[in-house]
Amino acid sequence: MAKEFNLSDGGANHQLPEGKDDVMTTAQGHPVADDQNWLSAGPRGPQLLEDHVAREKIFHFDHERIPERVVHARGYGVHGHFELKKAIPQYSRAAIFNDVGTKTPTFTRFSTVAGNKGSPDLARDVRGFATKFYTPEGNWDLVGNNIPVFFIQDAIKFPDLIHAAKPAPDRGFPQAQTAHDNFWDFVSLSPESMHMIMWIMSDRTIPRSFRFMEGFGVHTFRLVNQAGKSHFVKFHWKPRQGLQSVIWNEALKINGADPDFHRRDMWDAIDAGDYPQWDLGIQVFDEDFADSFEFDVLDATKIIPEEQVPVEIIGTLTLDANVDNFFAETEQVAFCTQNIVPGIDHSDDPLLQGRNFSYLDTQLKRLGGPNFTHIPINAPKCPVRHFQQDGHMAMHNPKGRANYEPNSWGMGDGAEEDRGPRASPDRGFQSYPAEISGPKVRVRSETFADHYSQARQFYVSQTPVEQTHMANALTFELSKVERMDIRKRMVGHLRHIDDGVAQEVADGIGLTEMPDKVPAARDPITDLPESPALSILRNGPDNFKGRKLGIYVA
Ligand code: HEM
Repeated sequence: MAKEFNLSDGGANHQLPEGKDDVMTTAQGHPVADDQNWLSAGPRGPQLLEDHVAREKIFHFDHERIPERVVHARGYGVHGHFELKKAIPQYSRAAIFNDVGTKTPTFTRFSTVAGNKGSPDLARDVRGFATKFYTPEGNWDLVGNNIPVFFIQDAIKFPDLIHAAKPAPDRGFPQAQTAHDNFWDFVSLSPESMHMIMWIMSDRTIPRSFRFMEGFGVHTFRLVNQAGKSHFVKFHWKPRQGLQSVIWNEALKINGADPDFHRRDMWDAIDAGDYPQWDLGIQVFDEDFADSFEFDVLDATKIIPEEQVPVEIIGTLTLDANVDNFFAETEQVAFCTQNIVPGIDHSDDPLLQGRNFSYLDTQLKRLGGPNFTHIPINAPKCPVRHFQQDGHMAMHNPKGRANYEPNSWGMGDGAEEDRGPRASPDRGFQSYPAEISGPKVRVRSETFADHYSQARQFYVSQTPVEQTHMANALTFELSKVERMDIRKRMVGHLRHIDDGVAQEVADGIGLTEMPDKVPAARDPITDLPESPALSILRNGPDNFKGRKLGIYVA
């Protein structure tokens, strides 16, 4: 009996008809007699165009490449599962959050942001941490990073940020995210980047391996319960392995000796059965907290300090299987922030709203058409029924006659026909009916205006050794910037963050005079109300009792 072509393996392990298991075929299934010698007119004669075996082989090879991701091009994906340890029906109606012990299959892709597909693993860069949960109510993608904040507040700036971070268009270098006039020019003209810059200059951006990083959903999302009540939420991944980084000299050596260090580490750990785990934590808060918080919860350049809203652990992600095929799974996986399930919803974060458009848009091109959800790694593991049809590479078209609605098939004279799917107000996704109003404007709220307070909080929360690493990183990177005015502008920002680090960097990059502070839209110290998180800002690290604000301590 013939075996079926198995789509669920990502196309990696084609099953041939029984009895022919090791016989090579063409893509059309024709058995191949010789795929090493092109048919030719005599042993020394010209090759014949007629050779369909050779032509098919070359044709397919010619088309192996697809565009690399416009960002996060270098990544490494692994399978796993998420197990719920604490049910949260009071917050969310999502099926994965309701029954303790529920195991949801997952696929996680770790990545660097700025480098191309072949760039080294230990670049100083943010790491992507994207997880697809194949839930019974469709795929939920938590598309985060290993840093809890971002460079910009509004998605419209993303192309500029990425252009500035990628190689300069005239010379095609440097590849690194930093050490780069364009990059430092952009961020020094974008004060909102300063909090992120301090994280980038910390040891977090040279992690020991993917296994020793935290992950963050970054944005404020919503959880919505069965009764339709909404809470805001921030998602956190806490590594059970702890948090580890290398130092810059080690990063440089590893990049030279083994540019695949991080992906090799992940492969080896999983291959050896040493499965890495992360706890999923949530910071849940309501509108009252959001209104009283000293920063805007919709501003992706800010954290919610864990002192103010503790992280509640609700489950564990275990990564326990390497891919069968890198291209089929890791390259073709398509994450998107708009992939949410009933019980999880978006907030009005202007960065998140732009992302919801961008991922789907780029994947249309990267994966060759609108049917990339038919690729096994992207296909939900629950029933999928809709009236979408056709397009390139359509694998699943509507069955039967009905491909539109409303229709009256299944009733009256057409009773014998399948009417197809129907929307369900009870089970279906309902957007949280948040009240919105206001004029259409291109102006960001005043509540997004403080760009330095949390940058300072982060810096002063570091140990002296970590602070030295940050000062060294800033000095190293800025010493590679050719234009002196850009260097000075950056030091002008650092003066808002910490005079000590500003001085160290100014000395390190050879500035003889301390540049003026860059004019700030809002004074970080005096304009804010009293709060536990800000006490450190005003009273210094002694007030801090050895804890790190909003930062995981292993
Ligand atoms: C890819 C995270 C902001 C556009 C990714 C990936 C991650 C990520 C983890 C890699 C996904 C994978 O492994 O396939 C983030 C985070 C952001 C952010 C945490 C801020 C909080 C943005 C913004 C935009 C954007 C503002 C655009 C407006 C993209 C695009 C890709 C991508 C186009 C490539 C997707 C693909 O080709 O499949 N991002 N990103 N990102 N991101 Fe973002």
